[in-house]
Amino acid sequence: MSENLSFFTNSDWDAIEVIDPRLATLVPAEPDSLYGPIREVLQAGGKRIRPFLTLLATDVERNSGTLHDSDEAALNAACAVEFLHTFTLVHDDIMDNAATRRGRPTVYAAYGTSAAILSGDALIALANEALARITSPNLGQMMAEFGLGFRCVCEGQALDKAFENRDTIRVAEYLEMIDLKTAKIIELAAVLGSVAGGGRFIKPLRSFAHHLGLAFQINDDLLDLIGDERTFGKTSGGDILEGKRTFLFAAVMEGYTSLAGDDRNLIDRIRDRQAILEDIPRVRVLLMRLGVLEHARAAAAEETRCAEASLGAIPESPARERLREFGRSLLGRQR
Ligand code: IPE
Ligand code: IPE
Ligand code: MG
Ligand code: MG
Ligand code: MG
Repeated sequence: MSENLSFFTNSDWDAIEVIDPRLATLVPAEPDSLYGPIREVLQAGGKRIRPFLTLLATDVERNSGTLHDSDEAALNAACAVEFLHTFTLVHDDIMDNAATRRGRPTVYAAYGTSAAILSGDALIALANEALARITSPNLGQMMAEFGLGFRCVCEGQALDKAFENRDTIRVAEYLEMIDLKTAKIIELAAVLGSVAGGGRFIKPLRSFAHHLGLAFQINDDLLDLIGDERTFGKTSGGDILEGKRTFLFAAVMEGYTSLAGDDRNLIDRIRDRQAILEDIPRVRVLLMRLGVLEHARAAAAEETRCAEASLGAIPESPARERLREFGRSLLGRQR
């Protein structure tokens, strides 16, 4: 289904080859005006890290030694999480006024706000339908976790938008916001995989995913400014142009009083949403000089270390090592 190469490949197992055909079978053909944009965004090359995490978590629970054994509950849960995630992206692009995602025009840019709202709504319905295919006695628990994860993303997105109207944000407030908008859905991915596999390690797996989720969003904020647009697939500097209150913004505002002259002017323009495309190279240079980029890298690395430490509560196994490797590969990602 995806054009891009898999982000994660295991010598003989490819996450996308397992997940994508299943996602494709769950999306109806007609009407094309509804499902066409959904198919396009699904086929545009998402990394599938959340469904992959679901399958890895089930693998840890089962300790069967092979990812091939992922069962129906895990696979349907993995699809439900990816549909939920795709919904967040499609609606987020309306909220962030974003033109490009996965290297293509966003649903919002290509088809307009109404189509993007409706695509997101239908994706939630598809997620529910994927969940409903699960026959496990733990389905009630999985649905409760799904509802909570879904609601937390909405709470996080509400904070994200409210923060745009504030002149300054503390790093601690930013972390609360990204816990809700980003980490909770990554937690959900791990928790559903855990429950599908019996739920013995639900606590450490949740904690692992929580910390990885924080690292993931800090990295996303960094890549938004300094990533290669062709690889990252989103408008470079888009967060600055939209006045988003990212890790970089929160960190730079912590040292605001020591800024002067042109440096302070530039930060004021970002804060006041006056920055333009031509400012972006200067912003990169300034944030590098101020040590903010390095601060973000260090914060993401620290969260990844915390994630790895959570794995200490799980007995050593090849599956646990795959999870560790997964966390590290996210830290070094370029897309
Ligand atoms: C993007 O998530 C949204 C964030 C939480 C930063 P991903 O980077 O996983 O997006 P895709 O699915 O690979 O496009
Ligand atoms: C990510 O927020 C969290 C979501 C709910 C999508 P961003 O606004 O940073 O995500 P991208 O960068 O557009 O993918
Ligand atoms: Mg956003
Ligand atoms: Mg966005
Ligand atoms: Mg972003």
